[in-house]
Amino acid sequence: MDKIKEVLKLLESEKNTIQDLKSLEEMKVRYMGKKGLISELQAGIKEASDKKAYGMELNTLRNSFLEFYEEKKQAFENSLLEEKLKSEAIDITLPGRKIKKGSLHPMTLITEQFEDLFVSMGYQVYEGPEIESDENCFQKLNIPKGHPARDAQDTFYLKDEVENYLLRSQTSTAQVRAMEENKEKGPLRIVCPGKVYRRDEDATHSHQFRQIEGLVIDENVSMADLKGTLELFCKKVLGEKTKVRFRPSFFPFTEPSVEVDVSCFKCNGKGCNLCKQTGWIEVLGAGMVHPHVLEMCGYDSKKYQGFAFGTGLDRFAMFKYNIPDIRTIYGNDIRFIKEFDRRDV
Ligand code: PHE
Repeated sequence: MDKIKEVLKLLESEKNTIQDLKSLEEMKVRYMGKKGLISELQAGIKEASDKKAYGMELNTLRNSFLEFYEEKKQAFENSLLEEKLKSEAIDITLPGRKIKKGSLHPMTLITEQFEDLFVSMGYQVYEGPEIESDENCFQKLNIPKGHPARDAQDTFYLKDEVENYLLRSQTSTAQVRAMEENKEKGPLRIVCPGKVYRRDEDATHSHQFRQIEGLVIDENVSMADLKGTLELFCKKVLGEKTKVRFRPSFFPFTEPSVEVDVSCFKCNGKGCNLCKQTGWIEVLGAGMVHPHVLEMCGYDSKKYQGFAFGTGLDRFAMFKYNIPDIRTIYGNDIRFIKEFDRRDV
């Protein structure tokens, strides 16, 4: 009995020393374990003179311990949970991190606008490769080797790697490809946007720029169709009030050939620095596909006619967005691209 009282005293004195879950569990082993103090006292019941009183006393001790243990354990666990919640807390009142939003490059915008316009007129978008054969870039467009028309488009030849290959100097190469790929040799209606390369470099010319080429082949296609199509195109892109004028010109792959001017959209034809006081701005080259080109690409030129046109996308972008130096288009300066973020194109 005295022993039980001693352990009870010990328990009371130890209660205040328990600071964490670990020492509480150790304490449990010390009291309740197989060789623990309470288990030992349990064995002592055999020698007790008053077994009933001994048993009751021992029960009091056990209950006192268990009560203390459960209460303490709960308290430790609660405070651990609280700490965890505190450390993982998210302050939902903080403003979120902004996602950096990009914007489409002006060249992408203008290319897509042109494509959409032609698709709405029943054209398909056709893209050719930028590395082309001399044959597709020149010969099949009626510009044989040594022809002076090559000089105006002199470009980058890949002589050392593959003989007779070059960076295409015009998207007209796609005309040749589309006609040759069309096995039925029937009607065609395509636009071909893409990069082209020439040996040029100044504020208004870049060694790399973009063109979009259109080609329509069918029976009974005439110059009137070409004029109607390009007039509609210019008005849709530059405004309904735009005047369009056709001047005779020369391209080896079209006959007759024209250059297309639009009334200056800055001064409305009065004359300013943009149109060099002429009131007109040249925007397109075009013409009826030369019968020779049709034949070289497998078409029956007696049955089919075609018209083609080409324009510089960079030129259009420069006019439209008032970009004075073509090099800024290719400079990759994020401040320039951001300018187009909210523009209505
Ligand atoms: N490919 C010509 C150029 O780059 C433009 C053009 C295209 C002219 C189609 C006529 C027909 O200058």
